[in-house]
Amino acid sequence: MANVFKGFTFRDGSDKSQHIAERDMRALSPSYTRSYGFVMDRGQGSEVWDVEGNRYIDFAAGIAVLSTGHCHPKIVEAINAQAQKYIHIGATDFFCPSQLALGERLQQISPINGAQPADVMTYFGNSGAEAVEAALKLARYQPGNRHHVIAFYGAFHGRTMGALSVTASKYIQRKGYPHIPGGVDHVPYPAKSACRGGGAACSQCWCDAVGFIEEFIIKRKVPADEIAAIIVEPIQGEGGYLLPQDDFLPRLRQLCDQHGILLISDEIQAGMGRTGKWFAMENWDVKPDIIVSAKGLGSGMPIGATITRREIMEAWVPGAHASTFGGNPLACAVAVATIDVLENEGLLESATRLGEYTMNRLNEFKQDHPSVARVEGKGLMIGVEFTDPHGQPIPQFRDEVANRAFLKGLISLGAGASTMRIAPPLVITESLMREGLDILESCIAELEEEMWDDIAG
Ligand SMILES: Cc1ncc(COP(=O)(O)O)c(C=O)c1O
Repeated sequence: MANVFKGFTFRDGSDKSQHIAERDMRALSPSYTRSYGFVMDRGQGSEVWDVEGNRYIDFAAGIAVLSTGHCHPKIVEAINAQAQKYIHIGATDFFCPSQLALGERLQQISPINGAQPADVMTYFGNSGAEAVEAALKLARYQPGNRHHVIAFYGAFHGRTMGALSVTASKYIQRKGYPHIPGGVDHVPYPAKSACRGGGAACSQCWCDAVGFIEEFIIKRKVPADEIAAIIVEPIQGEGGYLLPQDDFLPRLRQLCDQHGILLISDEIQAGMGRTGKWFAMENWDVKPDIIVSAKGLGSGMPIGATITRREIMEAWVPGAHASTFGGNPLACAVAVATIDVLENEGLLESATRLGEYTMNRLNEFKQDHPSVARVEGKGLMIGVEFTDPHGQPIPQFRDEVANRAFLKGLISLGAGASTMRIAPPLVITESLMREGLDILESCIAELEEEMWDDIAG
């Protein structure tokens, strides 16, 4: 049923896929982290087909991008309608109605600290990393002498130099770049599951991140009035789909208020309805000063948004920051259609409902399968972490589960050391979700049968 070709698992009889992969490896950068031998031919809703015609359920959604699924008719319609009018104009130089329409839609849905909808303003780039770059530059551009930024270990904010300066997910992302911009301190992220002492401010681990910032950064290293911003993923994505301690985000908000520090919420993976709210911080009733959004915003079109209140955005003067393609008419038209689809089809509610269904099923897996150590998430952003009986990560087991699931017709992706992410398109139905979870469980069961004795040693 399977064969390994150039280090990747392929299906038997997938000569066409293997030929494409071989050519790919000769022509394209080896920096891409390919998972297994899936070669895409087409997609519809929450299903995809490879070039041999095999069908798969998609639990990855192009890294949590395809909020409206593959080729939603309203998204295809929006692309066609805009493409027939014009594709590019240079929205930095001229006024562009689809960009404005998106800015106005974001005013309605973005909960920004201290701002009424009419006071919300957006800068558009082309990607998540660009949205983060813009947020960091904007925070440092504010009047005063605040240039320092605090970020969290485990965080992934992108790979361009500025975004990389706040990323501390895997050393391979930073290795080899001695000139990553400075002015950044990383502090421990208070993952709910990692606390060894049973709650906030315990003395057993670093779960009191806010206390850590006060004690070790503000008191000993950088005065609060030199700190421009704290950037945080409300739920760490690439770090392993990790929820924070319950009181962490409200306390972080208070700390920022106390010292006049801007709170930047990186909602690139967790935002745009994935957790059942437009933006993930709403799950803790916290409003950031700046939201960065991308992935799910564009249903697959490249777009990034840096969203804040007027007073902050208006520090920038013309030319202080811009991008040729940022907020291009096509991507913006699609993002407007994306928000419409999410709203009109009740997909935020669906993410909550199907998220509960999925969590229940996965918690049953946890009861029945010793390898399943953690099941955690909000809405349709759910992590399943595999560990050995001592709580140590077992990445080879997680990777084998993903390989085996692929062979059985499920596309999944890892996150963190040993976690599998469940992040399907928000249009997924309960029956497809069930089918995907059945595949996943059968793979876990088979692999436990084959490998668990060795792992448990
Ligand atoms: C939370 C978060 N921030 C930023 C990024 C970077 O986005 P991009 O890959 O579009 O540059 C990612 C990408 O995975 C992400 O998950």
